[in-house]
Formats: sequence, structure tokens, C-alpha cells
Amino acid sequence: MSASSPRKFKNPRATYNFLGRTCSISGVGSYVPERIVTNADLERMVDTTDEWIFTRTGIKSRRMAASDEYTSDLASRAALRAMRKAGVKPDQIDLIIVATITPDMPFPSTACLVQQKIGAYRAAAFDIEAACSGFIYALEIGQQFIMSRTYNTVLVIGAEKLSSIVDWTDRNTCVLFGDGAGATILQNRPDSHGLLTACMGADGRKADLLSMPGGGSRCPASKESVAAGLHFLRMDGKEAFKNAVQAMNTAAQESLRRCELDISQIKCIIPHQANRRIIDAVSERLGARPDQLFVNVEKYGNTSAASVAIALDEAVESRRIHRGDLVLLVVFGAGLTWGAAVIEW
Ligand code: ACO
Repeated sequence: MSASSPRKFKNPRATYNFLGRTCSISGVGSYVPERIVTNADLERMVDTTDEWIFTRTGIKSRRMAASDEYTSDLASRAALRAMRKAGVKPDQIDLIIVATITPDMPFPSTACLVQQKIGAYRAAAFDIEAACSGFIYALEIGQQFIMSRTYNTVLVIGAEKLSSIVDWTDRNTCVLFGDGAGATILQNRPDSHGLLTACMGADGRKADLLSMPGGGSRCPASKESVAAGLHFLRMDGKEAFKNAVQAMNTAAQESLRRCELDISQIKCIIPHQANRRIIDAVSERLGARPDQLFVNVEKYGNTSAASVAIALDEAVESRRIHRGDLVLLVVFGAGLTWGAAVIEW
């Protein structure tokens, strides 16, 4: 579809080309730390095997940030790459949103620290927390500011240093996660393609399935809380798995319905990269073909809010996505939370 014949939807929740505004993704960038931790490395740390990890999850390695490298550093590097590709200077940015469950500290926000690191001093800045769904939540929030004419240029980042909240003695969780960041520049570009829709959902009744119990007002840091390991990520893996498949399928179907699209029209599906078996189960339910999927979980493991942003950047860089292609992002995380977005690239 050419820029001169914009898509028109009967459903008003497909927000593309709303009152002459579009929300275009004019640049995407990512950054992962240099250190690679392989399954063989983990075999030396906990009672596990490469075979168990790979067959259960599809993960072969993950990246780990240095001890003096923080979420704001990963986020800033990804942001600068996205800005360069979009041709956007720091003083053009109106708003910075960082999605993360591993902020540098409880406050100030990681978004404020990123603002300082990239020199975007004109921008408002805040964090949002929706665990692995955070990037889609942040995209939807950014889109609302663009479509409402509040801002013209929004920097949306998903960034995590999950290695800082993983219990490296717990084989149930430490094999699954990694560090990294992905960023996009959202802009109003009436002549351009863009974000067709983004949708979000949550179910707080299942909050206990995935959590980090310590460090908040319920259980502030104390000698006892540290001794009890309450500052580490906890997860009921089997229940998370089942809920992930169901929620990602529902979110993907809803986003397609809003845009009056069929899954066969999607060129590239980028699911949350938590587990290859979850991705395959969602794909089967959606009736997708294997060649529609973009998967990089083998290299990075689950990078939570950074996951689909890193994958989107890699899909664009490896030319899996071309101008005009329809792209479906779909995510699931703690909360529970879920979401999906359809982009006309
Ligand atoms: N190495 C060897 N054995 C292990 C390991 C390991 N690394 N981890 C667990 N095991 C053992 C367990 O102790 C258990 O042993 P037991 O039966 O003797 O008690 C057994 O393996 C469990 O095996 P399975 O039942 O086959 O494991 P399953 O197929 O459920 O896979 C996994 C586990 C990979 C965690 C899976 O449940 C999963 O991926 N869940 C989803 C996680 C997720 O996607 N979270 C997303 C959101 S994360 C967020 O929002 C921050």
C-alpha cells in the first residue's frame, strides 16, 4: 500500500491516520552487552545441562552487563542508535519513556538518567513497568501522545539488566534471562507508514505467578529480606507458560481484528522471546507459517521489556522487514500483562 492511499479502517480503535496524524516508527536501534554467557558456562554454575536448557527453552546463550554497566547505559546506547537511524537530534525529543523492571534505582526514573546521558534536555521523561509487556505498553502510550498532538517525537525504550535480579544459584530461573535494550523513535509523519494499532491487557489476579517480592513498600530491603532471597525474580514456570500462550494468542487476534487483517497478510511476526516452545505454540494457535516468525531467543534468552524491541531492530537490520510490510509484535509478562501491535513498516 503506497503512502498516497492510506489504510482506512471501520474500527475506530485502529488509530492509523487518525485526523490526519500517523504514528510512524522512524528509527529503531538496540544494544546488548559484550559478555556472552553460554549454556556451557551455566553448567559450571548450577546443576543443569545445555541439552535441558536448549530443549526446554531454545536458548543457547544470553548477554550479561558488566558490574558497572546499568540499565540506563544499555538504554542510552540503544536510544542513540535509534536516533541516528531516524536522523533525530537530542533536542528534537519531546518525551522519553523507558519500560523496565530493572531500573538503575527506585527513583529517579531510568528515563531521567537516559535524558541526561543522551542530552535530550527538552524532553519530559518517565518509566513504566509492565514487565515483559512493557515495550508494547510504552509504544501505545507514546502513540497516544503523538495522535493527540501533544508531542511530535517520542523516544520509547525497553531496557533490562535482569542479571541484577536473577538468583544465580536457582537453576529454575537463572538459565532463562539476559540483559539488553531496544529503542524506537515515534514521530508524526503524515506521508509515512506507521503503527496501525497497539492493544494491552492485564490480570492482577495472577500477580503471584511472576514477581520480585522484596524492595517495595510491602517488604522493604532488610537483612531478613535479603537472607530470604526476596530481591530475586520468582516464577511459576508451568503456569506462566500456559498463560503466556493463551494471552499472546488473544492479544494477537485482537490487534488483527482491529486492523481487519488476517494472519496470512502479516509478513513478520515478532513474539516476546521467552521460550521457543511458547513461540511455537502461539504460532500454531494463530495459524501462522514458520517463515512468518522472527526468533532470536537462542542468542539472548528472555530480555523482558527489551525483547521485542531488540528483535524488531534485528529483523529490520537483517532485511526480514521491508518498507510496506505488515509486522505483528506480541508480548506477555508479569502482572499478568500482555499486548500486541501491528505496524505497517
Ligand atoms: N536444568 C535442569 N533441570 C531443571 C532446570 C535446569 N535449568 N530448571 C528446572 N529443572 C528441573 C526442575 O527442578 C524440575 O525437576 P523435578 O521435576 O524433579 O521437580 C523439572 O526440571 C521441571 O521440568 P519440566 O516440567 O519439563 O519444565 P518445563 O517444561 O515446565 O520448563 C520452563 C520449565 C522452561 C521454566 C518453562 O516452564 C517456561 O519457559 N515457562 C515460562 C517462563 C516465561 O516465559 N516467563 C515469561 C515472563 S517472564 C517476566 O515477565 C519477567
